[in-house]
Amino acid sequence: MREKIIAGNWKMHKTVPEALSLVQEIKIKLSRSDYKVVVIPPFTALYSVGGAISGSPIKLGAQNVFWEDEGAYTGEISPLMLSDLGVEYVLVGHSERRKYFGETDEIVGKKLRAVLAHRMTPILCVGENLEQREAGKTIDVITKQLKTALEGILIDEVEKIVIAYEPIWAIGTGKNANPLQVQTVHAFIREEIENIYGNNLGNKVTILYGGSVKPDNTAELTSMPDVDGVLVGGASLQAESFIGIINNAK
Ligand code: PGA
Repeated sequence: MREKIIAGNWKMHKTVPEALSLVQEIKIKLSRSDYKVVVIPPFTALYSVGGAISGSPIKLGAQNVFWEDEGAYTGEISPLMLSDLGVEYVLVGHSERRKYFGETDEIVGKKLRAVLAHRMTPILCVGENLEQREAGKTIDVITKQLKTALEGILIDEVEKIVIAYEPIWAIGTGKNANPLQVQTVHAFIREEIENIYGNNLGNKVTILYGGSVKPDNTAELTSMPDVDGVLVGGASLQAESFIGIINNAK
């Protein structure tokens, strides 16, 4: 059985008091346990949110990480620091990191390995932009992102990675990819992992969809056979819509 996950990426939103009030409300309203629920606040709120969810089924995630444990890297946060705070999931290679901060597939691969080395679960984000989709290059783009990030990842580590398919044109646009588009790419990702690793690992990896997920499109997206959950941005910033998504997931 693949792990099912609904994760809320708060991006650069929420002060500590705001983060606490959001997570308290989610905690109170959360009523199902078949999906693992992960909140991903900004670094500044990790400690307090971690405290607020301790003893609850909600898990803590971080939005980014550096690959070294410590050193002269002003402004960076290490995997050691994250695991020390009780972080269990770490986003790696989100398209906003790639776009605004120059993260290449090689950098994404380093981060992925660092997260695994600290026994946290990386959520590896992949996805094409609109131009690439329209040029029919979606599969090529995903293949390159996957192959480069997975370089050096051993067969027994693959199952510990969560993949999030997030088409860039669907992020924050209000226009989600349709369920068939999502299913096609997710099935391809499984095929690709199977090609690289074999051993039925393609079927064992959890694959999430992200990009304008809302309460009213969650049911159809999560009914696709290869969709194991969702990674939510904007709609995770309010308890009502995030809980709506959790409750509507199939
Ligand atoms: P969105 O963001 O739900 O606001 O489209 C998704 C994401 O960036 O993970």
